[in-house]
Amino acid sequence: MKKRVLSGIQPSGNLHIGNYFGMIKRMIEYQESSDLFCFIANLHSLTTLIDREEMKKLTLEAATDLLALGIDPDKCYFWVQSDVPETTELAWILSCLTPMRLMERAHSYKDKIAKGVLPNLGLFNYPVLMAADILINQADVVPVGKDQKQHLEMARDIAIKFNNEFGEVFTIPEPEIPEEIAVIPGTDGQKMSKSYGNTIPIFADDNVIKKAVMGIVTDSKQVDEPKKPEGNTIFELYKLFADKKESEDLARQFRKGGLGYGDVKKMLLEKIYNQFKPFKEKRSYLESHPKEVEAILSKGADKVRKITSKTMQKVREVTGLKY
Ligand code: ADP
Ligand code: TRP
Repeated sequence: MKKRVLSGIQPSGNLHIGNYFGMIKRMIEYQESSDLFCFIANLHSLTTLIDREEMKKLTLEAATDLLALGIDPDKCYFWVQSDVPETTELAWILSCLTPMRLMERAHSYKDKIAKGVLPNLGLFNYPVLMAADILINQADVVPVGKDQKQHLEMARDIAIKFNNEFGEVFTIPEPEIPEEIAVIPGTDGQKMSKSYGNTIPIFADDNVIKKAVMGIVTDSKQVDEPKKPEGNTIFELYKLFADKKESEDLARQFRKGGLGYGDVKKMLLEKIYNQFKPFKEKRSYLESHPKEVEAILSKGADKVRKITSKTMQKVREVTGLKY
């Protein structure tokens, strides 16, 4: 049996290179080796986004982006979270087994409040909904970033508690938080993140991408000076797009000197254009055929609901909710 790999992505617009190499590319590879469950976590977004038009736009945009980048609905489960109401039903049931002390430890909730996000019950309950996403699909492996580590531990705790109480219903999920996938640096050298305004967007117009790449912050070494490739933002980004030989060649030229940062930025830009060109073409097709995207999502929800309803049938039985 293939492993079930599951991850959710909040629809937050303007995917960047950090999202692609940190997350989406991994998902696409999983389609071949595992049973991939990939969904758009719009109910999680609702904890901070209260705007009908924006929610609709971002959800469809996220679906379009992921399909353009290579998510293949025939090879995986691909759906929008809110199209599967069983998940929120399970979230309620799990919340009744979740001790307050477990929730009160949540870093992510505390961080968000500290950043000025208004506390609401949904935001507090966010980890329980996330546990429901995972457990309802009986996921074996959940690839996430470091920021989601505690949420995964909570999902495991909740699953263990439920199984102890009611019998072996849920698979206990394993997090997959690869240390080796380095944090992709942004144009200022910090972690690339929408919230830092240092991203290189994937689907922006060529001139926007060019402006971001040419704006990468560097030290003031002159053209002929030797430079250190390791930790250099342009080099680290170039490596993501290049094969081993190309990376080694560039590293050698860095060390030797004679190559200016401006020229390397141009090489990087060329790589970025080439890599994303076919995805951009696919995206513009899908963008002008939103009904096709909607049909894919609708089929995707039907497909995953075969799994979620089976889990819920068991859950209702063991809890006595089915009387
Ligand atoms: P952002 O920081 O831009 O808001 P998100 O937090 O929405 O990005 O990240 C979505 C996914 O992309 C997560 O799985 C996260 O681990 C991954 N990701 C985002 N930025 C990076 C980065 N700079 N390096 C590696 N992975 C990243
Ligand atoms: N909270 C995750 C994030 O912001 C998204 C998410 C929701 C998720 N449900 C999930 C990730 C279940 C993995 C599994 O990145």
